[in-house]
Amino acid sequence: MEVNKALTTRKAIRKFTDQQVTRTDIEAIVQLAQTTPTWVNSQSQRVYVAMGDTLSSIRTAQHDLVTSNAPLNSDLPMGHRSDWSTIAQQNMQDWNAGLVKTLGSDFRAKIDQEAANLYNAQAVVYLALTKGYSPWALYDLGAFGQSLMLAAQERGIDTMPAYQFIKYPQMLREHLSVTSDEDLILGIGLGYRDTKAPVNQIVADRMPLDAILTIQD
Ligand SMILES: Cc1cc2nc3c(=O)[nH]c(=O)nc-3n(C[C@H](O)[C@H](O)[C@H](O)COP(=O)(O)O)c2cc1C
Repeated sequence: MEVNKALTTRKAIRKFTDQQVTRTDIEAIVQLAQTTPTWVNSQSQRVYVAMGDTLSSIRTAQHDLVTSNAPLNSDLPMGHRSDWSTIAQQNMQDWNAGLVKTLGSDFRAKIDQEAANLYNAQAVVYLALTKGYSPWALYDLGAFGQSLMLAAQERGIDTMPAYQFIKYPQMLREHLSVTSDEDLILGIGLGYRDTKAPVNQIVADRMPLDAILTIQD
């Protein structure tokens, strides 16, 4: 598959089928993501993957925390929408309006239900950084995540980058060997898309090119 195709077929998948992702696929995908450039080749990223019984335990624990309305405490603060630029806030509003059209007025409940089940992801890749990291490491980690998602797509494996995966980091530390001096930044779910699921019909529009691009010749 060409990069163009991987870029255009990737989308956030909020319900995966039960088809498993193999350890061989995961190793290959993470190794390809390692080609991502980093500041002075610093390679700050640390990668933890949960699958099989470990992921089942995390799924159960997450479900219990969601059900009991446990407070969210991600290592990277979620922040408030008002912290974002006016244009970014408008895009978020537009995205929400699109959700009503695709899923109906109870869209939030439908999405939350899938999130509580970790989107039925067959493996979750957790991206971590050692505490005190440079803002450049955060830049590098985002690029690493995108490389990982494209490498997965190239193999026909779909992905879901989500805050939902890392909103209870203390719980994750009980199941994964993430140390207390590492921050869990993002989780990326892996699996195969359930093509019939309504939550997978969500389309996220992009702004017109001239709204973000300035070329000065
Ligand atoms: C850092 C990050 C965190 C995200 N967290 C969530 C999340 O918690 N829940 C969710 O439904 N989508 C989440 N998403 C998915 C975005 O909503 C999605 O990528 C965006 O709407 C663009 O859609 P697309 O990925 O299908 O192109 C997240 C994406 C990123 C990059």
